[in-house]
Amino acid sequence: MSDRLPSHPAEAHIPHRKHFLSDRVEHFTESVIREMTRQAMLHGAVNLAQGFPDFPAPAEIKQAAQQAVAADVNQYAITWGAKNLRNAIARQMGVWQGIEVDPEKEITVCCGSTEAMISTLLAVCNPGDEVVIFEPFYENYGPDSVLSGAKPKFVKLRPPQEENGTWTFDEKELCRAFDKHTKAIILNTPNNPTGKVFTREELELIRDLCLEFDVLAITDEIYEHILYDGTEHIAMVSLAGMRDRTVTINGMSKTYSVTGWRVGWAVAAEKITNAIRKVHDFLTVGAPAPLQEAGAAALSLPPAYYVHLAERYRERRDHLMPALTAAGFRCFQPQGAYYVMADISAFGFDDDVAFARHLVQKIGVACVPGSSFYRHPRDGAKQVRFAFCKTPATLDEAARRLAKLRRLSDSG
Ligand SMILES: Cc1ncc(COP(=O)(O)O)c(C=O)c1O
Repeated sequence: MSDRLPSHPAEAHIPHRKHFLSDRVEHFTESVIREMTRQAMLHGAVNLAQGFPDFPAPAEIKQAAQQAVAADVNQYAITWGAKNLRNAIARQMGVWQGIEVDPEKEITVCCGSTEAMISTLLAVCNPGDEVVIFEPFYENYGPDSVLSGAKPKFVKLRPPQEENGTWTFDEKELCRAFDKHTKAIILNTPNNPTGKVFTREELELIRDLCLEFDVLAITDEIYEHILYDGTEHIAMVSLAGMRDRTVTINGMSKTYSVTGWRVGWAVAAEKITNAIRKVHDFLTVGAPAPLQEAGAAALSLPPAYYVHLAERYRERRDHLMPALTAAGFRCFQPQGAYYVMADISAFGFDDDVAFARHLVQKIGVACVPGSSFYRHPRDGAKQVRFAFCKTPATLDEAARRLAKLRRLSDSG
């Protein structure tokens, strides 16, 4: 831009154009996950990077979407969400979380849970507020906090030492993260990228800290139905004392395999909902109207749908993990969500980015470098993440390609 000749004489008098950019975005980098998807397309790689399913969505909900379009549901829905969908969300919160929610006053339907999260943070944070985030973390949370003027404060999740163990955090480290500046904690359970499902004891500890320091819990529960080995999802909002200090975020993307539909929601006490609705209105006005109607149909699927969903994902997990282990990765077995974090020490690469590049370009499999889930890249330098929300054929092809990987011990 600075090398360009002035297109108007007046431009010549501007010594240092600031390129029109805000300081806020200066430190944002492109989403590594979406970049890996582009790399996968470029190199014809099997994409186990981005968490989107490569299989069809349930026929019932596609029909509901088609019917809504045919019935001319074409105009803006009510800003905070179509009544049918809000009623369905409230009903299911009662069934799944045992929580009574007022669909008129406590629900905001957004363009995906992504928008629900940023709308919530913009609605509750002031400059100088701090937001506690467990790391490794879903990459949006850092920039979301910064956009809302808050400072992220990270607490480490440590990988399990033993096979089939779970990621854990240090209670003292968590306690130290809370102080008078803490406005909120963002909690994602079941967790991306680790697959950790927070236990009742862990949630109660977090609850106690929220009560002691007057902190809001913002919980991203979009993988709530994707659970393995009898693990139970416990919603923070269901714990005593948390009803009015929890924002529960969820959406259609993962549970109904429709990440491109962009329908999510935030459930919160009336006062907080009012603030979220204002931000949401100015950001996007509303989520796609016909797809909200389909959302109401989706939330009416029978319980067997969710049992089947989790079972199919368990099969996929158990399909990919042995292939990764055989190729030389040390896998951390997930208890929920549809990702597996894996240690890459056996391959002798300098870091995770160099390894991920090698994997996509030479082996033909895309993964996400672990560093993209950490504040300090070095903390994730020995990890990568694979998504297994893919058909058995895709996973077979990935396994065939991964078998070509060479470990350090293979050379010489
Ligand atoms: C933890 C987490 N939250 C939110 C999202 C995005 O959800 P949505 O499609 O509802 O915006 C993802 C997508 O991968 C995710 O992993």
